[in-house]
Amino acid sequence: MLATILPVLLLMFGLWGPPKLWHTIRDMIQGPKKHHGYFSLEQATYSYAQYRSMALAEVNDMHRSYVKLSRTHKRIGYDLGYPAKLRRLEELTILNALVTLNIAHLALSERPGLAETNSGDLGRVRETLKHFVRDWSSEGAKERGTTLEPILDALCLVSPERRAGMRVLVPGAGLGRLVWEISQLGYDTTANELSSFMTLAFRFLLSPSTTQRAEQHTIYPYAYWFSHQRSSESLFRPVSFPDTVPRLGDRLHLVEGDFLTHSRNYDIIVTLFFIDTSLNVISTLEHIYELLLPGGTWINLGPLLWPGGAQARVELSLDEILQLAKMIGFEIEGEDGGTIEADALRTRSVRCEYTGDRHAMMKYMYDSEFWVARKPK
Ligand SMILES: C[S@@+](CC[C@H](N)C(=O)[O-])C[C@H]1O[C@@H](n2cnc3c(N)ncnc32)[C@H](O)[C@@H]1O
Repeated sequence: MLATILPVLLLMFGLWGPPKLWHTIRDMIQGPKKHHGYFSLEQATYSYAQYRSMALAEVNDMHRSYVKLSRTHKRIGYDLGYPAKLRRLEELTILNALVTLNIAHLALSERPGLAETNSGDLGRVRETLKHFVRDWSSEGAKERGTTLEPILDALCLVSPERRAGMRVLVPGAGLGRLVWEISQLGYDTTANELSSFMTLAFRFLLSPSTTQRAEQHTIYPYAYWFSHQRSSESLFRPVSFPDTVPRLGDRLHLVEGDFLTHSRNYDIIVTLFFIDTSLNVISTLEHIYELLLPGGTWINLGPLLWPGGAQARVELSLDEILQLAKMIGFEIEGEDGGTIEADALRTRSVRCEYTGDRHAMMKYMYDSEFWVARKPK
């Protein structure tokens, strides 16, 4: 009984509860935090449900910091509109929560008996909100242009008649725009994703019960981070999504779970900002090779940003990665005296951003590496 009503109560409290007080009372009642895995459905659902209270608690902290100013400086802050800015942040957090609560509702409606957890991850929810921008908004079109186009150009070299009979896998598919674009080219495509933060948000777009039309949802993805902003208009700007509505179907499939346990064979595997998330990149490359049919193609675009804190077994440089690929058996397009079939297949650096805020005063720029490799026939 408690298992059934608790998630609903949490959702309600997420919507109406005073943030700090609720966290304290909840921790006293529920005891030590229960973990179901950082990317688990339980963790993600709870985090989406509790986004509002966690984010409002941060706004409270910002307000408390502000009121510590001297009376004169508070007056200056007031004249600059700072308290009103914090109120605006509070309002927009509540609007963002309309989306996150709907994601949590969808998860709970599909899995009513979901086990309880009591630790939320605000950072990952915010990251997913930015992925809505990267993958599914008009604002993200420029970023998608630099990251997706090299891959799509390479895939366009296959004649449209042959594409329908070819299976493509995108492991670490995130919110699924790349995989959807590939399906639009006529390939039979599968998105694979480990993190429930991503799959729940993707499902929120895929489900007719939550997303019926283009530009239906609005979020304020940058509002929480006051750094590097030129103006409050820029900080608080809304972003609508999706620019187009994706649906699963004959050509678009979603497989949730760890890529390393996936076992179907594919003609093409595409990795975008993926291989460097591996805890063991040797296993990842070996598994890509294993899943490819003889003569199959691996297309990669991404940086080498290894998980920090010595979590990864090995942290290789680009030349080591390419050497590893060859040791596993891959032939890299245009290397070892081979000729390149088309310029779109050329190994090269691609300068691109990842969930960047295009109006901000600071940018993270990646010189990502693009390559196409083949498994010999
Ligand atoms: C840096 S993100 C890139 C997401 C997407 N490709 C993009 O470019 O927007 C890497 C993604 O890979 C997923 N991932 C990491 N390890 C995975 C694994 N073993 N199996 C499936 N997905 C994995 C993560 O959850 C994350 O969503």
